[in-house]
Amino acid sequence: MKTVYVAMSADIIHTGHLNIISEARKLGKVVIGLLTDEAISSYKRLPYFSFDQRKVIVENLVGVSRVIPQDTLDYVPNLRKLKPDYVVHGDDWKTGVQRETRQRVIDALHDWGGELVEPDYTPGISSTQINRMIKEVGTTPEIRMKRLRRLLAAKPIVRIIEAHNGLGGLIVENTSIEKNGQVREFDGIWLSSLTDSTAKGKPDIEFVDLTSRLSTVNDILEVSTKPIIYDGDTGGIPEHFIFTVRSLERLGVSAVIIEDKIGLKKNSLFGTEVDQQQDTIEGFSHKITKGKQAQITDDFMVIARIESLILKAGMDDALKRARAYINAGADGIMIHSREKEPDEILAFCQKFSEFEKQVPLVAVPGSYSQITEKELADAGVAVVIYANHMLRSAYPAMVKTVESILENERAKEADEFCLPIKEIISLIP
Ligand code: SPV
Ligand code: MG
Repeated sequence: MKTVYVAMSADIIHTGHLNIISEARKLGKVVIGLLTDEAISSYKRLPYFSFDQRKVIVENLVGVSRVIPQDTLDYVPNLRKLKPDYVVHGDDWKTGVQRETRQRVIDALHDWGGELVEPDYTPGISSTQINRMIKEVGTTPEIRMKRLRRLLAAKPIVRIIEAHNGLGGLIVENTSIEKNGQVREFDGIWLSSLTDSTAKGKPDIEFVDLTSRLSTVNDILEVSTKPIIYDGDTGGIPEHFIFTVRSLERLGVSAVIIEDKIGLKKNSLFGTEVDQQQDTIEGFSHKITKGKQAQITDDFMVIARIESLILKAGMDDALKRARAYINAGADGIMIHSREKEPDEILAFCQKFSEFEKQVPLVAVPGSYSQITEKELADAGVAVVIYANHMLRSAYPAMVKTVESILENERAKEADEFCLPIKEIISLIP
């Protein structure tokens, strides 16, 4: 019996998949190359279902004999192993970004006399439609929480941006661009203490309390399916931090980041311009351990944020703390800097990469914004957080409009800075 290879993501199965499989089985025994999370997230959004879930679904489709993982978008590694007689793919890939992938398939098959078969593309199925379906499926606290760990496993760097209300959550959820045939979007949301406080007209000194912060989280949960990383400031006293962990975990937040400061916390970007005190290693390690013991699932993450570079305590102190916090149970380390150049961050990354026990490393390139995601990923950073950019861009836009109305004693001149009325009334469905 001949072997037929079909590759697919199979996140939401539709008639297109079934048509291809039914054509393929006419030719022989069908082996599905199921794209892994890693392969899919290299060019579009992480799939809704995990690899294992998708595998069970596809294994149970009529006509499928076997499912194997395809680790790359490129078919060739699997084809060389399997040497199938046929590859079947819809004819839609003859043009567009998949052209090259297709050519590589043809060239590989040529080596053992295999053949590419291309049934007509099934009309009426669009990725926009499928994306809408996925959004309608929504998410659950459990699925959302797990998503951060899945992203960490699948992507070279996880891209997070701040949101401080429901509208911001919607923007992060729905905004994507297409570049070089890839769909690029943010992977998740940062619940910044700075922007959440600023949006409420309050300073970033842990004055906005948990109840109020969780109300912002809820607004964002309601309009999004992406994972959330919560800025837990210092975490408060350990006895309180336990309850924060439980509350966040229950809501489906994926991670909390707490910073190793005590007393009156001020924003890190003040650095040594204001009085700020770093916690002892023992004190902060204890808080991390208590937080880890408090969580119910294995999925929630407690990430320790090191303020040594911010407070000019030195690189050695930062590294010593990183080791201690990992040993205390931290699931990740955030290293912060307010330097204009990324040098000290990169120096930290270099040393960190030599640690025996590795956990994901988080960076917040606010002051050293010239650094690219690729440079961060190459240095070993697993999560990049754009911590305040939506609020910082909204503020000058709002002031400009207010000034324009004052200047002209009417609103006409401000119209050009504003979203058309027709659009704002239909923004939220
Ligand atoms: C925040 O966004 O509140 C942070 C990151 O803690 S930073 O403001 O860069 O310190
Ligand atoms: Mg903060």
